[in-house]
Amino acid sequence: MQNIVVIPGDGIGPEVTEEAVKVLQELGLGLEFTFMEDINGGRFLESGVAMTDDELERIRTAGTVLFGAVGDPRVTSTEYARGVLLRMRTELDLFVNYRPAVLLDERLSPLRTESKRAIDCAVVRENTEGLYSGIGGTLRAGTTDEVAIDQDVSTYLGVSRVIEYAYSIARRSVCMVDKSNAVRSGGRLWQRCWREARERHPDLDSSHLYVDAAAMRLVTDAPSFDVIVTNNSYGDILSDLTAELAGGLGTAASANINPVTGAGLYEPVHGSAPDIVGKGLANPAGAVLSAALMLRDRGFTAEADALRDAVRATLAARRCTPDLGGTLTTGEAGAAIRAAVS
Ligand code: NAD
Ligand code: IPM
Ligand code: MN
Repeated sequence: MQNIVVIPGDGIGPEVTEEAVKVLQELGLGLEFTFMEDINGGRFLESGVAMTDDELERIRTAGTVLFGAVGDPRVTSTEYARGVLLRMRTELDLFVNYRPAVLLDERLSPLRTESKRAIDCAVVRENTEGLYSGIGGTLRAGTTDEVAIDQDVSTYLGVSRVIEYAYSIARRSVCMVDKSNAVRSGGRLWQRCWREARERHPDLDSSHLYVDAAAMRLVTDAPSFDVIVTNNSYGDILSDLTAELAGGLGTAASANINPVTGAGLYEPVHGSAPDIVGKGLANPAGAVLSAALMLRDRGFTAEADALRDAVRATLAARRCTPDLGGTLTTGEAGAAIRAAVS
């Protein structure tokens, strides 16, 4: 049976992941779970180890990960998040970060005009390159003459494959977002790869926006978007924006995937939320909907739909956590979702 590695991580990661696993168990699919609870900020502080090579190999073998969040306020080094989440994304070559934003309930939209509210789009974020490449360094660190360089890397392979993926899942249109009016070389490459993909897909509408205009348009006219494809940093930022437009960061799901190898890491878009940890305030919906994306990719389409419908039903009945206007705790909201799974 399908083996799923579960990495709860830090902060509210364990709280929301517990609910996602319980919902999956409720479905009775016979999924096997391998918990890797040692991977967290505490161990990194004690030993300097973010993720061992052995852990990475076990993850590689399983090929499916359900992830909570990384981020421990006591950890200041960027090597921790790089060594856990970014390491899995790059070493498993999970080049697509698929982040759908679908308005789950009318009441959740921050936009007043009804016709501007119905967001149903996905951010397809390049997940292995860009400013996250790790190439760069510092000169004269700690002095007033310090120079810091982080290279923004775009490759033909990396850009063309993620744009092609975006076209492959689009229902109506693909909007490529870059900053090619200011960022020259990478901008040119993104433009070239996008024009090539556009030629291959005359059946779909193609458009382009600079990232600043895309942020503005998402607020003024979110329903006009179907699939947005963009680089690692712009995708990180725009997917928090689309999450909020669709009802809040607590509901946003994501799939880090390699559509060629089939490997996948599924995680809510939010982080470890240290401000609400241990208070029962963490919304488990993003983690549950990430588990639904995992089920969809593993062929359990009906079960994935059932989870999404269950989350929607609990929202309609106000059976949810305070961030969405409810009064339930994390555990109660998870139980409500399980009860609603038909
Ligand atoms: P965050 O996403 O953790 O929190 C932002 C805000 O949203 C907070 O006010 C938080 O309380 C709220 N929130 C987040 N998830 C929620 C949920 N499920 N239910 C209700 N409210 C929720 O972002 P941050 O505060 O910028 O970062 C905190 C830590 O998490 C940092 O260490 C950061 O690096 C890390 N982080 C990790 C990931 C990840 O693992 N994928 C993503 C983002 C941030
Ligand atoms: C995300 C997070 C990560 C990112 C951080 C924790 C490195 O913000 O998954 O969106 O920037 O990719
Ligand atoms: Mn982010």
